[in-house]
Amino acid sequence: MNETLERWSSRRAFILAVTGAAVGLGNIWRFPYMTGENGGAVFLLLYIAFVLLLGIPMMMAEIMIGRAGRRSPMQSLAFLAQQAGHSTNWRWLGIFGAFTVFLILSFYSVVSGWSIEYLVGSINGDFVGQTPAQIGAGFDAFLADPLRMTFNHTLFLLLTMSVVAGGVSGGLEKLNNLLMPLLYLLLVVLVIYAATTDGFGLALTWLFSPDPSAMSLSVVLNAMGHAFFTLALGACALMAYGAYMPDHQSLSRAAGTVALLDMLVALLSGIAIFAVVFSQGIDPAEGPGLMFVTLPIAFSELPWGSLWLACFFLLLLLATWTSSINLAEPMVAGLQGMGIKRGMAATLVGLGVWLVGLLSVLSFSTMAEVKWFADMTFFDLVTTIPTDIFLPVGGLLIAIFAAWVLPRETALRTLDTGPNGFRLWQGVVRFVSIPLVVLVLVSGLL
Ligand code: PHE
Repeated sequence: MNETLERWSSRRAFILAVTGAAVGLGNIWRFPYMTGENGGAVFLLLYIAFVLLLGIPMMMAEIMIGRAGRRSPMQSLAFLAQQAGHSTNWRWLGIFGAFTVFLILSFYSVVSGWSIEYLVGSINGDFVGQTPAQIGAGFDAFLADPLRMTFNHTLFLLLTMSVVAGGVSGGLEKLNNLLMPLLYLLLVVLVIYAATTDGFGLALTWLFSPDPSAMSLSVVLNAMGHAFFTLALGACALMAYGAYMPDHQSLSRAAGTVALLDMLVALLSGIAIFAVVFSQGIDPAEGPGLMFVTLPIAFSELPWGSLWLACFFLLLLLATWTSSINLAEPMVAGLQGMGIKRGMAATLVGLGVWLVGLLSVLSFSTMAEVKWFADMTFFDLVTTIPTDIFLPVGGLLIAIFAAWVLPRETALRTLDTGPNGFRLWQGVVRFVSIPLVVLVLVSGLL
């Protein structure tokens, strides 16, 4: 397959696209509930450390490979390996990435469907005047209804695949431009509201003063997996976007900006959600329903609550949309590289993801008793293993490829950070990021 000629229209467009991929359910839905389940501040601190030590240098590595290869992840890896005199079996890393994003997208679409349900519910004013207990019961009733969930899952996937079918660098740009500033604005409103609640002080303590006894190997493993997930790292999805990166743009600045913007969204939504958790006496370890239970409660207390809530779910939906487009891209670009037309490739991927997504839908009702490995439902399984294990393993191999396999000149030129920046990046990836991932994976899994 030849080089792609598609490019993001500007440097800013590239940063927005990668921020769009990074900011999504990971920040607003997953971060708060994982923090709640993993002891609060300890998890937050570990997650920040992982973003800085692994996240930023490994994002640079992953985007760089895409930019150097200018093909789908599989083909970029095979092409660059061959040029460097290594085996084209490196393309299996691209296939592994595609498998990982396939699994992630299958539940991502289901949970994004929950946001559609809540968007419609808040427009209808469903949450007005409801007690926290009623809001909680409403969420459980929704989970127990496979038809409603399937409908929303289907709708969301159609939205995603219709953009992907047309090529990502066009329509997505306009969406990102509008969406990102609005999302930050609304989160700030939420945090200001949170500051007026009784639980605000407790939320800050929970998030920022670590309790060392909450620390364990599984917390470390979860925090590392989360850092990969929230940065969209380790599944060749960023590599797919790197292929469309304009020439002459510093990768370190791009990766650093995205990582900071991404952490900011997580922090703001964490503060808002935990303020409600502690004001209303909700269990921080409530699990994946945490956001869907706390935010309707919070907003129902504000003037024009339904309106705010509807705006919030709309923005969340747009944020998850831009992430899911990124999740689909490596698979669709890969099939396209094998000679399948883009529209057809998007249809095939959409169908496969839809079918596997049904297993997640059913794991709250019909299949709730079907337990997989370690007593998990399918939803539990697919929301943990790909994130906590596959992403770090994928990221590790990507980093090895970038820092040890790729010829120095190619890496130096593609990173566009100058010789000193390059040396720093290479040193960090080789001697900090790679050993750290290995250490956490080995000790967390043994
Ligand atoms: N980063 C996205 C989020 O936080 C999820 C994602 C993971 C996207 C992996 C692409 C690849 O919602």
